[in-house]
Amino acid sequence: MLNCEEFFKQCRKEYGDIFSLYLWGQVITFVGKEHNYELFARDDAFDFRGEFKKRVPGDAMFANGFGDGDYNAKAVKEYISDKLGLYTKRMQKCLHSATQKYIGDGDDNGRATIYKIYNVMTKIISTPIADIFVGEEEAVYDDIIITFAEFTADIAIFIAIPPLLDFIYPGLQGYVNRIIVKSGLYNPAKKHQDVLVKHIKNQVEKRLREKQVYGDSWKRPKDLLQDFMEEESFDTKNVDYEAIASKFCTFIFAAIHATSRSCANAIVDLACRPEYMQELYEEQLEIHKQADENGILPFESINEMKKLDSFVRESIRLTGDIAAHPRRVVKDYTFSNGLQVPKDHVVDVNFSDVYQDELLQGPNPESFEPFRHINKNFPASKMSKNFLAFGGDVLEEFLL
Ligand code: HEM
Repeated sequence: MLNCEEFFKQCRKEYGDIFSLYLWGQVITFVGKEHNYELFARDDAFDFRGEFKKRVPGDAMFANGFGDGDYNAKAVKEYISDKLGLYTKRMQKCLHSATQKYIGDGDDNGRATIYKIYNVMTKIISTPIADIFVGEEEAVYDDIIITFAEFTADIAIFIAIPPLLDFIYPGLQGYVNRIIVKSGLYNPAKKHQDVLVKHIKNQVEKRLREKQVYGDSWKRPKDLLQDFMEEESFDTKNVDYEAIASKFCTFIFAAIHATSRSCANAIVDLACRPEYMQELYEEQLEIHKQADENGILPFESINEMKKLDSFVRESIRLTGDIAAHPRRVVKDYTFSNGLQVPKDHVVDVNFSDVYQDELLQGPNPESFEPFRHINKNFPASKMSKNFLAFGGDVLEEFLL
Protein backbone atom coordinates (compact mmCIF):
# COMPACT_ATOMS: atom_id res chain seq x y z
CA MET A 1 0.00 0.00 0.00
CA LEU A 2 3.04 2.30 0.05
CA ASN A 3 3.05 2.50 -3.73
CA CYS A 4 -0.57 3.22 -4.64
CA GLU A 5 0.20 3.85 -8.29
CA GLU A 6 1.79 0.43 -8.72
CA PHE A 7 -1.02 -1.18 -6.71
CA PHE A 8 -3.63 0.39 -9.01
CA LYS A 9 -1.72 -0.81 -12.07
CA GLN A 10 -1.69 -4.34 -10.67
CA CYS A 11 -5.44 -4.20 -9.93
CA ARG A 12 -6.12 -2.90 -13.42
CA LYS A 13 -4.05 -5.73 -14.93
CA GLU A 14 -5.69 -8.44 -12.87
CA TYR A 15 -9.31 -7.27 -12.74
CA GLY A 16 -9.80 -5.05 -15.78
CA ASP A 17 -11.09 -1.53 -16.40
CA ILE A 18 -13.55 -1.57 -13.49
CA PHE A 19 -12.56 -3.02 -10.11
CA SER A 20 -13.55 -2.56 -6.48
CA LEU A 21 -11.50 -2.15 -3.30
CA TYR A 22 -12.52 -2.30 0.36
CA LEU A 23 -11.34 1.03 1.83
CA TRP A 24 -12.14 2.59 5.20
CA GLY A 25 -15.11 0.37 5.84
CA GLN A 26 -16.72 0.55 2.42
CA VAL A 27 -16.39 -0.93 -1.04
CA ILE A 28 -15.36 1.66 -3.64
CA THR A 29 -15.41 0.95 -7.36
CA PHE A 30 -12.67 2.43 -9.54
CA VAL A 31 -13.41 3.09 -13.18
CA GLY A 32 -10.66 3.25 -15.81
CA LYS A 33 -10.20 4.84 -19.21
CA GLU A 34 -12.73 2.70 -21.08
CA HIS A 35 -15.74 3.58 -18.97
CA ASN A 36 -15.00 6.75 -16.97
CA TYR A 37 -16.90 8.91 -19.50
CA GLU A 38 -20.06 7.23 -18.18
CA LEU A 39 -19.43 8.81 -14.75
CA PHE A 40 -19.18 12.28 -16.29
CA ALA A 41 -21.93 11.90 -18.85
CA ARG A 42 -24.61 10.18 -16.73
CA ASP A 43 -25.44 12.78 -14.10
CA ASP A 44 -28.79 11.01 -13.66
CA ALA A 45 -26.89 8.02 -12.25
CA PHE A 46 -23.75 9.50 -10.66
CA ASP A 47 -23.77 12.46 -8.30
CA PHE A 48 -20.50 14.11 -7.30
CA ARG A 49 -22.19 16.67 -5.04
CA GLY A 50 -23.93 13.98 -3.00
CA GLU A 51 -20.68 12.22 -2.19
CA PHE A 52 -18.92 15.47 -1.39
CA LYS A 53 -21.74 16.61 0.90
CA LYS A 54 -21.58 13.33 2.78
CA ARG A 55 -17.91 13.87 3.53
CA VAL A 56 -17.99 17.58 4.35
CA PRO A 57 -20.81 18.71 6.70
CA GLY A 58 -21.65 21.87 4.74
CA ASP A 59 -25.31 21.62 5.83
CA ALA A 60 -24.19 21.92 9.47
CA MET A 61 -21.74 24.75 8.81
CA PHE A 62 -23.67 27.06 6.47
CA ALA A 63 -27.18 28.40 6.12
CA ASN A 64 -27.63 26.81 2.66
CA GLY A 65 -25.09 24.01 2.90
CA PHE A 66 -23.02 24.04 -0.27
CA GLY A 67 -26.00 25.37 -2.21
CA ASP A 68 -27.72 23.87 -5.21
CA GLY A 69 -25.40 22.34 -7.82
CA ASP A 70 -27.34 23.64 -10.83
CA TYR A 71 -27.40 27.15 -9.39
CA ASN A 72 -23.64 26.98 -8.64
CA ALA A 73 -22.81 25.87 -12.17
CA LYS A 74 -25.05 28.57 -13.70
CA ALA A 75 -23.59 31.28 -11.43
CA VAL A 76 -20.01 30.29 -12.30
CA LYS A 77 -20.86 30.52 -15.98
CA GLU A 78 -22.96 33.69 -16.01
CA TYR A 79 -21.31 35.71 -13.24
CA ILE A 80 -17.68 34.63 -13.66
CA SER A 81 -16.64 32.74 -16.83
CA ASP A 82 -18.74 34.84 -19.22
CA LYS A 83 -17.44 38.06 -17.66
CA LEU A 84 -13.73 37.24 -17.44
CA GLY A 85 -13.01 39.74 -20.23
CA LEU A 86 -14.46 42.49 -18.00
CA TYR A 87 -12.27 41.50 -15.11
CA THR A 88 -8.97 41.08 -16.97
CA LYS A 89 -7.47 44.43 -16.04
CA ARG A 90 -8.31 44.15 -12.36
CA MET A 91 -7.14 40.56 -12.16
CA GLN A 92 -3.78 41.38 -13.73
CA LYS A 93 -3.26 44.35 -11.44
CA CYS A 94 -4.18 42.29 -8.38
CA LEU A 95 -1.91 39.43 -9.41
CA HIS A 96 0.95 41.83 -9.86
CA SER A 97 0.46 43.64 -6.55
CA ALA A 98 -0.03 40.34 -4.67
CA THR A 99 3.13 38.85 -6.20
CA GLN A 100 5.02 41.95 -5.10
CA LYS A 101 3.52 41.75 -1.63
CA TYR A 102 4.02 38.04 -0.96
CA ILE A 103 7.21 37.34 -2.97
CA GLY A 104 8.72 40.71 -3.87
CA ASP A 105 11.53 41.50 -6.31
CA GLY A 106 14.05 39.21 -4.66
CA ASP A 107 17.75 39.96 -4.17
CA ASP A 108 20.07 41.88 -6.52
CA ASN A 109 19.96 38.94 -8.94
CA GLY A 110 16.19 38.84 -8.85
CA ARG A 111 16.19 35.62 -6.79
CA ALA A 112 13.65 35.12 -4.06
CA THR A 113 13.29 32.18 -1.70
CA ILE A 114 9.75 30.97 -1.30
CA TYR A 115 8.94 28.84 1.72
CA LYS A 116 5.69 26.85 1.58
CA ILE A 117 4.80 27.71 -1.99
CA TYR A 118 1.21 26.48 -1.69
CA ASN A 119 0.53 28.90 1.19
CA VAL A 120 2.04 31.81 -0.76
CA MET A 121 0.05 30.86 -3.87
CA THR A 122 -3.25 30.76 -1.95
CA LYS A 123 -2.68 34.38 -0.89
CA ILE A 124 -1.68 35.49 -4.39
CA ILE A 125 -4.65 33.72 -6.01
CA SER A 126 -7.03 34.95 -3.30
CA THR A 127 -6.25 38.57 -4.12
CA PRO A 128 -7.84 38.80 -7.63
CA ILE A 129 -10.58 36.34 -6.70
CA ALA A 130 -11.57 38.34 -3.60
CA ASP A 131 -11.51 41.47 -5.76
CA ILE A 132 -14.06 40.11 -8.23
CA PHE A 133 -16.10 38.29 -5.57
CA VAL A 134 -16.64 40.83 -2.77
CA GLY A 135 -15.46 43.92 -4.63
CA GLU A 136 -12.42 46.14 -4.93
CA GLU A 137 -13.07 48.08 -1.72
CA GLU A 138 -13.29 45.09 0.62
CA ALA A 139 -10.57 42.99 -1.06
CA VAL A 140 -7.85 45.34 0.21
CA TYR A 141 -8.29 44.10 3.78
CA ASP A 142 -5.91 41.44 5.07
CA ASP A 143 -8.60 39.57 7.01
CA ILE A 144 -10.60 39.02 3.79
CA ILE A 145 -7.54 37.69 1.95
CA ILE A 146 -6.74 35.37 4.87
CA THR A 147 -10.31 34.08 4.86
CA PHE A 148 -10.19 33.42 1.12
CA ALA A 149 -6.74 31.82 1.41
CA GLU A 150 -7.32 29.64 4.46
CA PHE A 151 -10.98 28.73 4.24
CA THR A 152 -10.55 25.59 2.14
CA ALA A 153 -7.64 24.17 4.13
CA ASP A 154 -9.59 24.70 7.37
CA ILE A 155 -12.71 22.96 6.04
CA ALA A 156 -10.74 20.21 4.31
CA ILE A 157 -9.94 18.73 7.69
CA PHE A 158 -13.15 16.75 7.22
CA ILE A 159 -11.71 15.20 4.04
CA ALA A 160 -8.16 14.82 5.35
CA ILE A 161 -9.05 12.78 8.45
CA PRO A 162 -9.68 9.16 7.43
CA PRO A 163 -13.28 8.08 8.16
CA LEU A 164 -12.24 5.58 10.84
CA LEU A 165 -15.72 5.44 12.40
CA ASP A 166 -17.10 4.07 9.13
CA PHE A 167 -15.44 0.78 10.09
CA ILE A 168 -18.00 0.52 12.90
CA TYR A 169 -20.97 1.55 10.75
CA PRO A 170 -20.98 3.03 7.22
CA GLY A 171 -21.77 6.76 7.41
CA LEU A 172 -21.06 7.04 11.16
CA GLN A 173 -18.08 9.38 10.60
CA GLY A 174 -20.21 11.90 8.67
CA TYR A 175 -22.91 11.70 11.35
CA VAL A 176 -20.41 12.39 14.16
CA ASN A 177 -18.81 15.25 12.18
CA ARG A 178 -22.22 16.88 11.91
CA ILE A 179 -22.87 16.56 15.63
CA ILE A 180 -19.47 18.12 16.43
CA VAL A 181 -20.25 21.13 14.19
CA LYS A 182 -23.91 21.55 15.16
CA SER A 183 -23.19 21.33 18.90
CA GLY A 184 -20.69 24.18 18.52
CA LEU A 185 -17.76 22.00 19.67
CA TYR A 186 -15.81 22.70 16.50
CA ASN A 187 -16.83 24.67 13.44
CA PRO A 188 -13.86 25.65 11.25
CA ALA A 189 -16.10 27.79 9.02
CA LYS A 190 -17.39 30.08 11.77
CA LYS A 191 -14.51 32.58 11.94
CA HIS A 192 -14.45 32.89 8.13
CA GLN A 193 -18.21 33.36 7.95
CA ASP A 194 -17.95 36.17 10.51
CA VAL A 195 -15.28 37.94 8.43
CA LEU A 196 -17.38 37.57 5.28
CA VAL A 197 -20.57 38.81 6.95
CA LYS A 198 -18.73 41.89 8.28
CA HIS A 199 -17.40 42.88 4.84
CA ILE A 200 -20.54 41.96 2.90
CA LYS A 201 -22.65 44.02 5.32
CA ASN A 202 -20.32 46.99 4.83
CA GLN A 203 -20.66 46.84 1.08
CA VAL A 204 -24.34 46.00 0.84
CA GLU A 205 -25.34 48.86 3.15
CA LYS A 206 -23.04 51.28 1.31
CA ARG A 207 -24.32 50.24 -2.13
CA LEU A 208 -27.98 50.43 -1.16
CA ARG A 209 -27.41 53.86 0.38
CA GLU A 210 -25.43 55.23 -2.57
CA LYS A 211 -27.83 53.82 -5.14
CA GLN A 212 -30.63 55.71 -3.47
CA VAL A 213 -28.63 58.96 -3.27
CA TYR A 214 -27.19 58.93 -6.80
CA GLY A 215 -30.06 57.28 -8.68
CA ASP A 216 -29.30 56.87 -12.38
CA SER A 217 -25.82 58.32 -12.06
CA TRP A 218 -24.82 55.61 -9.56
CA LYS A 219 -21.88 53.63 -10.88
CA ARG A 220 -22.72 49.95 -10.62
CA PRO A 221 -19.83 47.96 -9.04
CA LYS A 222 -18.78 45.02 -11.14
CA ASP A 223 -18.41 41.92 -8.97
CA LEU A 224 -20.08 38.74 -7.81
CA LEU A 225 -21.59 40.47 -4.77
CA GLN A 226 -23.44 42.91 -7.01
CA ASP A 227 -24.67 40.00 -9.16
CA PHE A 228 -26.02 38.31 -6.02
CA MET A 229 -27.68 41.60 -4.99
CA GLU A 230 -29.51 41.79 -8.31
CA GLU A 231 -31.05 38.34 -8.02
CA GLU A 232 -34.83 38.16 -7.59
CA SER A 233 -34.53 36.55 -4.16
CA PHE A 234 -32.48 39.46 -2.76
CA ASP A 235 -34.63 41.44 -0.33
CA THR A 236 -33.28 44.97 0.22
CA LYS A 237 -35.47 45.40 3.33
CA ASN A 238 -34.38 42.20 5.00
CA VAL A 239 -30.89 41.28 3.82
CA ASP A 240 -29.81 37.80 4.85
CA TYR A 241 -26.06 38.35 5.26
CA GLU A 242 -25.44 34.82 6.54
CA ALA A 243 -27.00 33.38 3.38
CA ILE A 244 -24.88 35.56 1.09
CA ALA A 245 -21.75 34.63 3.09
CA SER A 246 -22.69 30.93 2.69
CA LYS A 247 -22.92 31.35 -1.07
CA PHE A 248 -19.47 32.91 -1.10
CA CYS A 249 -18.13 30.05 1.02
CA THR A 250 -19.13 27.54 -1.69
CA PHE A 251 -17.39 29.53 -4.40
CA ILE A 252 -14.31 30.18 -2.27
CA PHE A 253 -14.09 26.49 -1.45
CA ALA A 254 -14.34 25.54 -5.12
CA ALA A 255 -12.12 28.24 -6.60
CA ILE A 256 -9.12 28.96 -4.40
CA HIS A 257 -7.62 25.60 -3.52
CA ALA A 258 -7.84 24.04 -6.99
CA THR A 259 -6.38 27.12 -8.65
CA SER A 260 -3.62 27.68 -6.07
CA ARG A 261 -2.64 24.03 -6.11
CA SER A 262 -2.40 23.99 -9.91
CA CYS A 263 -0.34 27.21 -9.94
CA ALA A 264 1.98 26.01 -7.17
CA ASN A 265 2.56 22.73 -9.03
CA ALA A 266 3.18 24.54 -12.33
CA ILE A 267 5.75 26.83 -10.68
CA VAL A 268 7.56 23.90 -9.09
CA ASP A 269 7.48 22.03 -12.42
CA LEU A 270 9.02 25.05 -14.10
CA ALA A 271 11.59 25.58 -11.37
CA CYS A 272 12.69 21.95 -11.85
CA ARG A 273 13.09 22.52 -15.60
CA PRO A 274 14.89 25.86 -16.00
CA GLU A 275 15.73 24.95 -19.62
CA TYR A 276 12.16 25.90 -20.62
CA MET A 277 12.05 29.28 -18.88
CA GLN A 278 13.56 31.35 -21.66
CA GLU A 279 11.33 29.81 -24.35
CA LEU A 280 8.17 30.41 -22.32
CA TYR A 281 9.28 33.90 -21.38
CA GLU A 282 9.95 34.83 -25.01
CA GLU A 283 6.51 33.62 -26.05
CA GLN A 284 4.95 35.87 -23.42
CA LEU A 285 7.10 38.86 -24.37
CA GLU A 286 6.18 38.44 -28.02
CA ILE A 287 2.45 38.25 -27.39
CA HIS A 288 2.59 41.06 -24.87
CA LYS A 289 4.40 43.24 -27.41
CA GLN A 290 1.72 42.65 -30.04
CA ALA A 291 -1.34 42.91 -27.83
CA ASP A 292 -0.32 45.31 -25.04
CA GLU A 293 -3.06 47.76 -24.03
CA ASN A 294 -1.46 50.23 -21.63
CA GLY A 295 0.40 47.50 -19.81
CA ILE A 296 -2.60 45.16 -19.72
CA LEU A 297 -2.84 41.98 -21.72
CA PRO A 298 -6.30 41.51 -23.32
CA PHE A 299 -8.06 38.36 -22.18
CA GLU A 300 -8.10 36.81 -25.68
CA SER A 301 -4.33 37.03 -26.11
CA ILE A 302 -3.77 34.71 -23.16
CA ASN A 303 -5.16 31.97 -25.43
CA GLU A 304 -2.35 32.65 -27.87
CA MET A 305 0.30 31.53 -25.41
CA LYS A 306 0.29 28.00 -26.77
CA LYS A 307 3.53 26.89 -25.15
CA LEU A 308 2.54 28.17 -21.73
CA ASP A 309 -0.89 26.58 -22.08
CA SER A 310 0.62 23.22 -22.97
CA PHE A 311 3.07 23.48 -20.05
CA VAL A 312 0.22 24.15 -17.63
CA ARG A 313 -1.88 21.31 -19.03
CA GLU A 314 1.06 18.94 -18.67
CA SER A 315 1.65 20.12 -15.12
CA ILE A 316 -1.99 19.54 -14.19
CA ARG A 317 -1.94 16.14 -15.93
CA LEU A 318 1.04 14.98 -13.87
CA THR A 319 -0.10 16.49 -10.58
CA GLY A 320 -0.01 13.02 -9.05
CA ASP A 321 -3.66 12.19 -8.42
CA ILE A 322 -4.08 8.43 -8.72
CA ALA A 323 -7.83 8.33 -8.23
CA ALA A 324 -10.16 11.32 -7.90
CA HIS A 325 -13.67 12.72 -8.53
CA PRO A 326 -15.71 10.35 -6.31
CA ARG A 327 -19.38 10.03 -7.14
CA ARG A 328 -22.39 8.51 -5.38
CA VAL A 329 -24.55 6.15 -7.42
CA VAL A 330 -28.08 7.59 -7.31
CA LYS A 331 -29.82 4.59 -8.89
CA ASP A 332 -28.73 1.04 -9.73
CA TYR A 333 -26.50 1.35 -12.77
CA THR A 334 -25.18 -1.08 -15.39
CA PHE A 335 -21.96 -0.04 -17.17
CA SER A 336 -21.75 -0.62 -20.91
CA ASN A 337 -19.62 -3.72 -20.24
CA GLY A 338 -22.43 -5.24 -18.16
CA LEU A 339 -20.92 -4.64 -14.69
CA GLN A 340 -23.41 -3.32 -12.18
CA VAL A 341 -23.16 -0.93 -9.23
CA PRO A 342 -26.03 -0.56 -6.75
CA LYS A 343 -27.66 2.68 -5.56
CA ASP A 344 -25.64 4.49 -2.83
CA HIS A 345 -22.40 2.82 -3.89
CA VAL A 346 -19.31 5.06 -4.36
CA VAL A 347 -17.42 5.10 -7.65
CA ASP A 348 -14.17 6.90 -8.35
CA VAL A 349 -12.13 7.64 -11.46
CA ASN A 350 -8.88 5.71 -11.92
CA PHE A 351 -6.80 8.71 -13.03
CA SER A 352 -3.50 6.89 -13.44
CA ASP A 353 -5.12 4.56 -15.97
CA VAL A 354 -5.89 7.62 -18.12
CA TYR A 355 -2.73 9.60 -17.47
CA GLN A 356 -0.33 6.70 -17.96
CA ASP A 357 -1.87 5.46 -21.21
CA GLU A 358 0.22 5.77 -24.36
CA LEU A 359 -2.72 5.79 -26.74
CA LEU A 360 -4.36 8.67 -24.89
CA GLN A 361 -1.26 10.68 -23.99
CA GLY A 362 1.26 9.88 -26.70
CA PRO A 363 4.76 8.37 -26.21
CA ASN A 364 6.27 8.18 -22.72
CA PRO A 365 3.10 9.13 -20.89
CA GLU A 366 4.86 9.00 -17.50
CA SER A 367 7.38 11.68 -18.44
CA PHE A 368 6.84 15.44 -18.30
CA GLU A 369 6.81 16.69 -21.90
CA PRO A 370 5.95 20.40 -21.63
CA PHE A 371 4.88 20.84 -25.23
CA ARG A 372 2.98 17.57 -25.59
CA HIS A 373 -0.38 19.34 -25.93
CA ILE A 374 0.52 22.00 -28.48
CA ASN A 375 -1.82 22.04 -31.50
CA LYS A 376 -4.10 19.41 -29.97
CA ASN A 377 -7.00 21.88 -29.87
CA PHE A 378 -7.58 21.43 -26.16
CA PRO A 379 -6.48 24.30 -23.90
CA ALA A 380 -5.47 23.62 -20.28
CA SER A 381 -8.93 24.74 -19.12
CA LYS A 382 -10.83 22.12 -21.14
CA MET A 383 -11.84 18.59 -20.17
CA SER A 384 -11.18 15.84 -22.71
CA LYS A 385 -10.98 12.08 -22.58
CA ASN A 386 -7.25 12.27 -21.82
CA PHE A 387 -7.53 15.17 -19.35
CA LEU A 388 -9.99 14.95 -16.48
CA ALA A 389 -8.87 17.67 -14.06
CA PHE A 390 -12.08 19.71 -14.07
CA GLY A 391 -14.65 16.94 -13.72
CA GLY A 392 -18.17 18.17 -14.37
CA ASP A 393 -21.10 16.70 -16.21
CA VAL A 394 -19.77 16.64 -19.74
CA LEU A 395 -20.26 14.28 -22.61
CA GLU A 396 -19.48 16.24 -25.75
CA GLU A 397 -15.78 16.55 -24.86
CA PHE A 398 -15.51 12.78 -24.74
CA LEU A 399 -17.02 12.37 -28.15
CA LEU A 400 -14.38 14.52 -29.84
C1 HEM B 1 -7.26 24.87 -11.86
C2 HEM B 1 -8.38 25.27 -11.32
C3 HEM B 1 -9.59 24.40 -11.04
C4 HEM B 1 -9.74 23.03 -11.05
C5 HEM B 1 -8.67 21.97 -11.35
C6 HEM B 1 -11.13 22.76 -10.72
C7 HEM B 1 -11.67 21.50 -10.62
C8 HEM B 1 -12.96 21.23 -10.23
C9 HEM B 1 -13.50 19.89 -10.01
C10 HEM B 1 -12.73 18.59 -10.21
C11 HEM B 1 -14.77 20.02 -9.61
C12 HEM B 1 -15.73 18.89 -9.27
C13 HEM B 1 -16.45 18.49 -10.51
C14 HEM B 1 -16.64 17.00 -10.63
O1 HEM B 1 -16.11 16.18 -9.85
O2 HEM B 1 -17.31 16.62 -11.60
C15 HEM B 1 -15.07 21.45 -9.57
C16 HEM B 1 -16.29 21.98 -9.19
C17 HEM B 1 -16.53 23.32 -9.10
N1 HEM B 1 -15.68 24.35 -9.45
FE1 HEM B 1 -13.77 24.17 -10.08
N2 HEM B 1 -11.79 23.95 -10.53
C18 HEM B 1 -10.90 24.97 -10.71
C19 HEM B 1 -11.13 26.34 -10.59
C20 HEM B 1 -12.35 26.87 -10.27
C21 HEM B 1 -12.63 28.30 -10.18
C22 HEM B 1 -11.59 29.41 -10.41
C23 HEM B 1 -13.95 28.42 -9.84
C24 HEM B 1 -14.80 29.66 -9.61
C25 HEM B 1 -14.45 30.86 -9.82
C26 HEM B 1 -14.50 27.08 -9.72
C27 HEM B 1 -15.80 26.80 -9.38
C28 HEM B 1 -16.32 25.53 -9.21
C29 HEM B 1 -17.65 25.26 -8.68
C30 HEM B 1 -18.68 26.33 -8.23
C31 HEM B 1 -17.79 23.88 -8.63
C32 HEM B 1 -18.97 23.11 -8.07
C33 HEM B 1 -20.11 23.14 -9.05
C34 HEM B 1 -21.29 22.43 -8.43
O3 HEM B 1 -21.65 22.67 -7.27
O4 HEM B 1 -21.81 21.63 -9.16
N3 HEM B 1 -13.51 26.17 -9.98
N4 HEM B 1 -13.96 22.16 -9.95
